[in-house]
Amino acid sequence: MTAVSKDWLNNLPKIELHLHLEGSLEPELMFELAQRNNIQLPFETVEQVRAAYEFNNLQDFLDIYYQGANVLQQEQDFYDLTWAYLKKCQSQNVIHVEPFFDPQTHTDRGISFETVINGISRALDDAHDQLGISSQLIMCFLRHLSEEAAFETLKQSEPFIKKIVAVGLDSSEQGQPPEKFSRVFAKARELGLLTVAHAGEEGPAEYIWTAINDLKVSRVDHGVRATEDSELISYLVKSKMPLTVCPLSNTKLRVFDNMSEHNILLMLEQGVCVTVNSDDPAYFGGYMTENFVALAKSLDMTEIQARLLVLNSIEASFVDDERKQAMRVMLG
Ligand code: ADE
Ligand code: ZN
Repeated sequence: MTAVSKDWLNNLPKIELHLHLEGSLEPELMFELAQRNNIQLPFETVEQVRAAYEFNNLQDFLDIYYQGANVLQQEQDFYDLTWAYLKKCQSQNVIHVEPFFDPQTHTDRGISFETVINGISRALDDAHDQLGISSQLIMCFLRHLSEEAAFETLKQSEPFIKKIVAVGLDSSEQGQPPEKFSRVFAKARELGLLTVAHAGEEGPAEYIWTAINDLKVSRVDHGVRATEDSELISYLVKSKMPLTVCPLSNTKLRVFDNMSEHNILLMLEQGVCVTVNSDDPAYFGGYMTENFVALAKSLDMTEIQARLLVLNSIEASFVDDERKQAMRVMLG
């Protein structure tokens, strides 16, 4: 059987629900922003940067990812970062996105919350008007930092709350259980925000349960370790809880040694609402199309499965029924 073609997958309308804007910083833009802001990078060339992107686990990656974000200083830098990602989306027929940003990565360096969110949301607005790409923005708390710091960030976001649809939880997972943030997530829900959380990427299936029960998430980010707990799989199917899975991320960070071992299609066949996403595409070797292509090549994903994965993303997205229906029509 021949694999589904790259052209077909690129043309397929797609939706991205798990994307860290800071993780879409390509080395070329990193150098441009370093020059613009007079920042010395520990690399001489773009090739050297790419060569450094070899990771054994999540923490290896996060150390480099936070270092890369230092070049982001001015509102225009956040605009340029976001716009470059959205142009890539346009080239891959990604019609709706719900990106994450990590305000603490910037506010801890003295960049104001306002600078960050204004740059990002101006690019999202322009993409809506000029590229026809709709979006909803998600603000993540860094789980290696304290609950108090998350509360402070939530407070800083309040004047801009209309620009945000949900709060999320990312960064180092091991030893940082979701329930550490139960109270700040409760406060976010009181403010009218939805919630999501990274869980079951490197951390145990138990963290998926607590993300659901304690943080009341509407989606679980990653969640691939759910297959270690059959009761959890049954619950995910019954409750239609979406998982935002990131195949290339999982192999780059050694959650799975080989794409052929990835469990996304197994979960799809079990009836779990799994979706395909790129996570940190500049670091993991591919955007949406490349993630779908990897599944076609290594797991013999069919066109029917690819369309089902996109349909799941439509169902899991944080948009009204009218936009969902319009996206279903675009999928055909
Ligand atoms: N921040 C950026 N990418 C991440 C990932 N894959 N897991 C946790 N935190 C992240
Ligand atoms: Zn992520």
